[in-house]
Amino acid sequence: MFTLKTLSIFGLLASSTTAAFTVPNDDQDMTGLTVNSIPYSTRVKYMRLANEALYEQSGPCPFAAYGTIIVNHTADAIVCKGANFRTGDPTIHGEISAINACTAVFAAKNMTASQIYAAWGELSIYTNAESCPMCASAIRWSGFKEYIYGTTIQHNYNVGWGVMTLSSYDVFQQSRQLPGYQTSMLGQILTNETDPLFSWQYNETYPCPNGCVREYSPSRGYKTCFAPNATVTKRETVDHGDHWH
Ligand SMILES: *[C@@H]1O[C@H](CO)[C@@H](O)[C@H](O)[C@H]1NC(C)=O
Ligand SMILES: *[C@@H]1O[C@H](CO)[C@@H](O)[C@H](O)[C@H]1NC(C)=O
Ligand SMILES: *[C@@H]1O[C@H](CO)[C@@H](O)[C@H](O)[C@H]1NC(C)=O
Ligand SMILES: *[C@@H]1O[C@H](CO)[C@@H](O)[C@H](O)[C@H]1NC(C)=O
Ligand SMILES: *[C@@H]1O[C@H](CO)[C@@H](O)[C@H](O)[C@H]1NC(C)=O
Ligand SMILES: [Zn+2]
Repeated sequence: MFTLKTLSIFGLLASSTTAAFTVPNDDQDMTGLTVNSIPYSTRVKYMRLANEALYEQSGPCPFAAYGTIIVNHTADAIVCKGANFRTGDPTIHGEISAINACTAVFAAKNMTASQIYAAWGELSIYTNAESCPMCASAIRWSGFKEYIYGTTIQHNYNVGWGVMTLSSYDVFQQSRQLPGYQTSMLGQILTNETDPLFSWQYNETYPCPNGCVREYSPSRGYKTCFAPNATVTKRETVDHGDHWH
């Protein structure tokens, strides 16, 4: 019979063996490449803006550090932003929230549904972590011109996140018969700046990002990162639930 103590030993065993598992085909690294005539420096600029969009909406070190923007490279401009707003709707990951935000922007311009469906093919979605299979599927259904991500699913798996271990590469491979546009995929863009945003949540010795401080989280029962000025009450409201990406 399992006591609480044996269960926690099993938990430790499970987490110490996670790194041995490899997510198949999760090694797409397009660092440094010019794709679709967009120089790498522009990719870096927009990946940083995806992180900035997250900080604007959720503070300097949100537990769910997933930030997404949708970019029109012809106009060199952000069309809309998304983050995991944790509304309680488990499907509203950053990518879905950004797609919803753009749809609202286009509807407010009185674009028809057909015009909105066509618009995605001109746009690029930047997300600071590789999309889960649900969002990767939504990206393919949208027919974005490009999908650009930072941190990989494999990375987040290795640092303790509960993830679906199916790479975007594999989702895209199985999506070739969808109507509409193909989507160029650029992986592992600016991971030196995105990985640290996902590496502290389950590792008490990893440094907090953006000047945040490590303090005891009553809801999690261990020390996680908080904005330097967050009060105890604020901490509780910021740090709740386990549905994120
Ligand atoms: C992207 O920007 C170009 C240039 O400003 C514009 O003509 C086009 O309508 C924009 N596309 C979308 C989907 O916003
Ligand atoms: C959209 O259509 C409504 C109703 O016809 C109109 O009042 C509004 O000005 C239009 N908005 C834009 C941005 O064209
Ligand atoms: C991350 O790498 C890029 C080059 O790809 C570099 O420009 C940038 O300064 C690096 N960021 C940090 C925080 O070291
Ligand atoms: C936890 O963080 C420490 C400090 O950065 C690092 O040395 C260690 O490798 C991390 N552990 C895991 C499993 O990533
Ligand atoms: C934290 O508080 C200090 C002093 O009150 C203030 O100067 C600083 O801007 C605050 N930082 C944030 C992120 O709110
Ligand atoms: Zn997702």
